[in-house]
Amino acid sequence: MSMRTCKMSQVVVIALAVLLQQFTAGLCSEETRSEMADVQKAFTDHEVVPDVVDAAPTELAKVSYPSGVSANGGNELTPTQVKDQPQIEWTVDDPSSYYTLFMVDPDAPNRAEPKFRSVCHWFVGNIPGTRIAEGDHRIAFVGSGPPQGSGLHRYIFLVYKQPAGKLDLSDAPRTSNRSRNNRLNFQHKSFVERYGLGPLVAGNFYRAQFDDYVPSLHAQLSSRTE
Ligand SMILES: *[C@@H]1O[C@H](CO)[C@@H](O)[C@H](O)[C@H]1NC(C)=O
Repeated sequence: MSMRTCKMSQVVVIALAVLLQQFTAGLCSEETRSEMADVQKAFTDHEVVPDVVDAAPTELAKVSYPSGVSANGGNELTPTQVKDQPQIEWTVDDPSSYYTLFMVDPDAPNRAEPKFRSVCHWFVGNIPGTRIAEGDHRIAFVGSGPPQGSGLHRYIFLVYKQPAGKLDLSDAPRTSNRSRNNRLNFQHKSFVERYGLGPLVAGNFYRAQFDDYVPSLHAQLSSRTE
């Protein structure tokens, strides 16, 4: 091979590599775009937008339960399947970021007349990255307890970034997993405002209706007042 042909083939190889890279980068952003479209669609189809938030998050949080089930954009799960605290994952852009997590049921006592909108099932602030166990658990996790005959309720997870870093949450309510205190008519948006939270980086939701685990959850929630 002459020197000239060799140089030319090098140029061709480099050009092909650049093309391939652009092609795969294009594929990845297509994928991100279609995942974003799925999140939008799930949140609007099930009217989480506008009942709970004004706009869908960009990312579907990964919500997996010890029982083996996962929340997935409004799928139906049973209270028995979701009785224990789930693991939640989302994309952390900067490992030093803190996040706030809310889990709410806007359909209490039922979706047609939601006079308790929303019931708070979980409220954790100052979560370093996705390490929820290390966050400040203000309102302890409880599973789903939709009353008998009240139909399907939506259970929604919302993860907000804390742009100002770690917050002083000493004046936020604190409730154990044995009490209904501070849970009814919980307005997560007022905390978003009060603590300057945002943006809503990730979310997800499932739906559930009564099953025979619900009476034991209701008994647990009536056992204490704090
Ligand atoms: C309630 O919270 C306590 C303290 O964090 C925990 O040990 C217990 O397992 C929880 N109970 C239920 C039923 O989730």
